[in-house]
Amino acid sequence: MDTIIVKMNESDIDEEKICQAAEIIRGGGLVAFPTETVYGLGANALDPVASTKIYAAKGRPSDNPLIAHIADLEMLKPLVEEIPEAARKLMDAFWPGPMTLIFRKSDLVPKETTGGLDTVAVRYPNHKIAQALIREAGVSIAAPSANLSGKPSPTLGEHVIDDMDGRIDMIIDGGMVGMGLESTIVDVTAETPMILRPGFITKEMLQSVIGEVKIDPAILEKPTEGLRPKAPGMKYRHYAPKADFTIYRGNKNKVAEEILKQANEKAKQGFLTGIITAEEHLKLYEGKTDENISVIALGNLAHPETIANHLFQVLREFDKQGAEFIYGEAFSEDHIGQAIMNRLTKAAGYQIIDL
Ligand code: TXA
Ligand code: MG
Repeated sequence: MDTIIVKMNESDIDEEKICQAAEIIRGGGLVAFPTETVYGLGANALDPVASTKIYAAKGRPSDNPLIAHIADLEMLKPLVEEIPEAARKLMDAFWPGPMTLIFRKSDLVPKETTGGLDTVAVRYPNHKIAQALIREAGVSIAAPSANLSGKPSPTLGEHVIDDMDGRIDMIIDGGMVGMGLESTIVDVTAETPMILRPGFITKEMLQSVIGEVKIDPAILEKPTEGLRPKAPGMKYRHYAPKADFTIYRGNKNKVAEEILKQANEKAKQGFLTGIITAEEHLKLYEGKTDENISVIALGNLAHPETIANHLFQVLREFDKQGAEFIYGEAFSEDHIGQAIMNRLTKAAGYQIIDL
């Protein structure tokens, strides 16, 4: 299949191209588009055949449900059975934005979109291109992250092109996304709302609006038979780079010392090796690494959003370099740090060592 690739700026939307994309969506085709979190791979959420195409293009297991994206609150009503009070408050506070809510689904939403579940995930993205496309299409758009299944979510148009060129009808390249981590998922169907995936909207932010909020215990550690995440997608080894990735946690000097020891050992054996650190810690590695090692700072510890923003991009960069081993520092788990460490820990296949 020939994929139409168009470039577009959020501040200068090409209406003609949006119309073309919307027509593809209405006709049952697939269009990748930027959102403020990561790129999405969109299809008409109410068309079971179109939803099925998403799974094929991603190579994604079909029990993993999709998020329906809307562009005004009126679009929510037909998708859900009820809108609980807590959901209304959260929508008021955080929509449009990087928060997905799980509702009981209406009969209109096909099981192909919800992976066979009786609930539906809905998000109102805060991105001009995404909003323009959904409005023009006139239907809610089912969109998982626009990566091949198992790869890090795309945060740049070129990531989508790498994964999806030739597999879908159209890619809208809107440059770098604003946040770089997927939305916070909150299940509002239970008495006490529960976070199923941490993101930019933190537990503290949710609590300030609705009081008590739980967090799915299964997302904090390695999934086992007895402890299955409630969001089916969270059980997969996601976001994974090709390299064997280990995270070290503890005193920053000890961590750097151990990372240098491990990385230099592998590099001397001829393996391409990567180190993941923060800008403030670069000096701990300077002049101490073998030539086979590339040291990358994800961002600035004082501004953890910069770390979130570059995380998936750096994992993909290591893949391109052909890195075989990666050693990384653990970051703070406060606030947005919870989402950062959730993604990093999964990327490392739960290989995390306390020093
Ligand atoms: O930021 C985002 O949420 C991005 C952009 C494109 O909006 N989308 C995204 O979609 O991350 P995806 O498909 O990669 O992740 C959706 C997650 C999966 O873990 C899935 O299992 C979960 O949401 N999910 C979807 N519907 C659900 C439901 N009804 N109940 C529980 N979990 C659900
Ligand atoms: Mg995904």
